[in-house]
Amino acid sequence: MEEQQLKQLLSSLSLIEKVGQLVQLSGEFFKTDSLVVGPLQKLGISEEILGNVGSVLNVAGSKKTHEIQKEYLEKSKHKIPLLFMGDVIYGYRTIFPIPLGLGATWNPDLIFEAYKVIGEEARLSGLNVTFAPMVDLVRDARWGRCLESTGEDQYLNSEFAKKMVAGLQYNLENQHGIASCVKHFAAYGAVEAGREYNTVDMSERRLRETYLPAYHSAITAGSKMVMTSFNTYDGVPVTANKYLLKQILRNEWRFDGVIISDYAAVSELIDHGVASNDAEATSLAINASVDIDMKSPCYANELIQLIEQGKIRESQINEAVWRVLKLKNELGLFENPYQGASCEATNIFNNENARSLALKVARESIVLLQNKNQILPLVPNKQKILIVGPYADNPSLIGLWAVYGKKEETVTILKGLTKYQKPDLLFYESGCSILNKTDELGEFGSAANFQEKLVWDNQKRNAHLEKALSLGEIADVIIFALGEHTMQSGEAGSRTEISLPKNQKQFVKKLMALKKQTILLCVSGRPLVLTDEVKQFDAILQLWFPGTEGGNAVADVLFGQTNPSGRLSMSFPYHVGQSPVYYNHFKTGRPLGKSNHSNRFVSKFIDSPVSPLFPFGYGLSYSQVKYSKLSVDVLEQQILIHVSVENQSSRDCYETIQCYIQDVSASVVRPVLELKRFKKIFLPANKKEDVLFSLTLEDLKFYRQDMTFDFESGQFIAFIGPNSRDTLEVSFEI
Ligand code: BGC
Repeated sequence: MEEQQLKQLLSSLSLIEKVGQLVQLSGEFFKTDSLVVGPLQKLGISEEILGNVGSVLNVAGSKKTHEIQKEYLEKSKHKIPLLFMGDVIYGYRTIFPIPLGLGATWNPDLIFEAYKVIGEEARLSGLNVTFAPMVDLVRDARWGRCLESTGEDQYLNSEFAKKMVAGLQYNLENQHGIASCVKHFAAYGAVEAGREYNTVDMSERRLRETYLPAYHSAITAGSKMVMTSFNTYDGVPVTANKYLLKQILRNEWRFDGVIISDYAAVSELIDHGVASNDAEATSLAINASVDIDMKSPCYANELIQLIEQGKIRESQINEAVWRVLKLKNELGLFENPYQGASCEATNIFNNENARSLALKVARESIVLLQNKNQILPLVPNKQKILIVGPYADNPSLIGLWAVYGKKEETVTILKGLTKYQKPDLLFYESGCSILNKTDELGEFGSAANFQEKLVWDNQKRNAHLEKALSLGEIADVIIFALGEHTMQSGEAGSRTEISLPKNQKQFVKKLMALKKQTILLCVSGRPLVLTDEVKQFDAILQLWFPGTEGGNAVADVLFGQTNPSGRLSMSFPYHVGQSPVYYNHFKTGRPLGKSNHSNRFVSKFIDSPVSPLFPFGYGLSYSQVKYSKLSVDVLEQQILIHVSVENQSSRDCYETIQCYIQDVSASVVRPVLELKRFKKIFLPANKKEDVLFSLTLEDLKFYRQDMTFDFESGQFIAFIGPNSRDTLEVSFEI
């Protein structure tokens, strides 16, 4: 539709029709008349608003969305189509690894391809907008939503953010893909103690330098929408925070797309204690420039009265509605309200190309954390292998937030192993349950137990253990597929103990008595504390939730068909008490190992190392790569950093070369390391390559004491290595 026509449409709408565009309701409001009654009454929303609602939350499937749209438009006066929005986080039907696993690929170009597939599958289900990517920077593994992030570094996250947006919105103008809604703006990953929905409070310097860049990157890449976060910033909940939404997002970043609140966040302004009723909550949110109210009664019930009382201006509503209509128009909904929902989608899902991409991504996301005596890779059919553990033959490898993924289309680890190992040399026994206490899942525990029979009685527990022990006697190698329950991470999955579940740890102890070669496959939505496991196991592979092709990917890595190349994008602590532990922390006045004070009076713990168990950027391969000849050339506008890498093994590998800097002395304290560049290169067996990184002065800028964003001349150190710990270093002056 031409802009002029769209403007006319806007001016022909009544107030109630306009308000409807700013309200988002979930599926139960649209299904059948009988179902409507309950929630309608619960939120107290009138039939009239319902008939004019602008968007639908979390309804997908071409048939369902088609029906709802058709019925809605038939009754609608102005024929403004509904927008279907939903959570397609790391896959619609073809499920990729969770974002923390995507982060571990250090391969944003590959993730661009993955999000193209995700966007297209989601479109074919009738969705128009996905609430992704989630780009919250994460430093505290207690927070369950680490799962949804690409990690702890602003530069790496920004690289992923822009590729994810570009992938989802690929060819959007020609009705491909899906609009992206970047979330949760802002700084949600910094909730205190990793406790879900908790307070965020930090300096503006930290906010701008560390937490904001990935959102900015997504917006620069053209993300059509932004979702506000549940947390406060500087005492004001984000959904009412004018500084973040108006000053930064609208004015500084010039974002003129749609801002949506997170689920019920407008009415939660009352619980936060900054509004005393729905009317106040509504006016705070609309004044902060929140366009759509997701799933709260506030906008639907209060906006009209607020205008009538002169408390807000109708022009504010017009601006918000304009943004919503513009998005609908950009998506071509006026011409074709059904979009992907008009296609017969079934044979497009789960296709071979999408699956082979999911396999490639899963392979690259797996991180080899330990490989004592090079027990990996395994040689097919050489030894007797026993696989045990709750994830050994479990399609939950797609994780919890793969709402539309199908477990029956998921390759389990056992299935993957059968590609390499003959049946008479491969044994399987689950051996133990994933959890043995339902309270570990909070109030979901009893429901999960009902479905999955989590809690085993003594007899069952002993029988499985005995079976595992007797098969273990025969085996040469025991593979343990262990991990968190899917509900132990993700939204509202904060934990104070971030280890493997206790019953699994006890099971490991029992089997270790057999003194066999042991491999841990760790399935989790966060970095777990693996301090005990590092001592117990010969090899450890971190799998995350690897998705539809997970089992094949794991088998390829175990048997060396794939040389592992994943690198951590979030540090793994020794102990939960270190949290938050992250590589780019500020320097202190009493640094461990570098201070003049006695070792007692330096910045450390007396009962745990200060550095993480596995640092940011860490991951092994089956090759040995040597770094040498680090040098720096400082030119007028450029800093050229050279390094030589040599694959000293007979296996080809992919090596991720990481380039960090430290600003040695500045007007404000700077981080000990800052990732500035990385390159993931193919390095053939026994080959050497010279690698060059080119930085500009722009890369050295930071928020100075007076909050200007600039660089300061002086001494710098460049660090290059395979991770943030094992680096070569060289100083240079600017
Ligand atoms: C989550 C969002 C999600 C929304 C809609 C909220 O609880 O925080 O990430 O997009 O629900 O499902």
